[in-house]
Amino acid sequence: MEKSIKKIQADALKELEKASGRKEINDISIRYLGRKGVVTQLLRNIPDLPKSKRAETGKNANVLKKTLDQVFKEALKQLELKTSASDECIDVSLPGRPAVNGSLHPITRITQEICDIFTRIGFEIVEGPEIETDYYNFEALNFPKNHPARDMQDTFYISENIVLRTHTSPVQIRTMKKQTPPVRVIAPGKVYRCDSDLTHTAMFHQVEGLLVDENISFGDLKGILTTFVHQMFDDQTNLRFRPSFFPFTEPSAEVDILCVICRGKGCRVCSQTGWLEVLGSGMVHPALFENVDYDPERYTGFAFGMGVERIAMLKYGIDDIRRYFENDNRFLRQF
Ligand code: DAH
Repeated sequence: MEKSIKKIQADALKELEKASGRKEINDISIRYLGRKGVVTQLLRNIPDLPKSKRAETGKNANVLKKTLDQVFKEALKQLELKTSASDECIDVSLPGRPAVNGSLHPITRITQEICDIFTRIGFEIVEGPEIETDYYNFEALNFPKNHPARDMQDTFYISENIVLRTHTSPVQIRTMKKQTPPVRVIAPGKVYRCDSDLTHTAMFHQVEGLLVDENISFGDLKGILTTFVHQMFDDQTNLRFRPSFFPFTEPSAEVDILCVICRGKGCRVCSQTGWLEVLGSGMVHPALFENVDYDPERYTGFAFGMGVERIAMLKYGIDDIRRYFENDNRFLRQF
């Protein structure tokens, strides 16, 4: 019996030496230690042995079982270490994978450029909500109910008194209610109108500007906006101030720049006029100051608002606004 215990151990080790895969090691383990395995049989037969041999043989058989069990487990562990090491090994001779660089959306880029120009000359950036009340979007900006100027903006109504803001001008009111003059802010953000064609999308971006202090004149408005246009385009870009109407400014002016494509000769982009409209502006209407408890006798100010997509289209020579929002990487990667 002693001899056979030793032999069983030797046989098992010999078989294990030849085994290479996980399955082979498992099979050997089952052959020896499984329910019908050699060692299990051996242990099961112990009660049939002569009494004098039982204790000794039983002890040795248990040692054998424990030993083999450990040996098999160790073999599996080693195999695992070996394979994971080879799976994880790095082939330093392979060419590197190029990193895919993201980039800023052209609208984000132009918004930042506009904001940078104004923050350099002392404006602070502020923001307001995209879901606005009728009061901030219209009423406080001197658009009374049923005023025809409300029709200029095709409004998305959420309820009778809640709208998706149609412009960034409500941020003028929110800012003045929070601050006392001097006020120098620009407010970039998304705005919404029920409109869609080659040059309009239902969501687009504006940057609003507001400056209020003592002794602010139309000359200041012209100076600041001329500086802006020269920095945004180039200092050869002529501009003109054309009389216009907005309920929240008096007087109001629209700013045109000399067509950046044809330099004033007349082309398709400027509809043969030589000029391109880039923003709305004017001196803040005294009614707004009354709405925010500023003294209209003491303070004057100017405001302006521009469409970011429009500026970006002129700067990059793009004729279809919808391209900005189609998420076509071939288009977006160019900026
Ligand atoms: N809110 C106007 C619009 O969306 C643009 C505008 C015009 C803003 C004149 C102003 C301004 O601040 O003074 O059409």
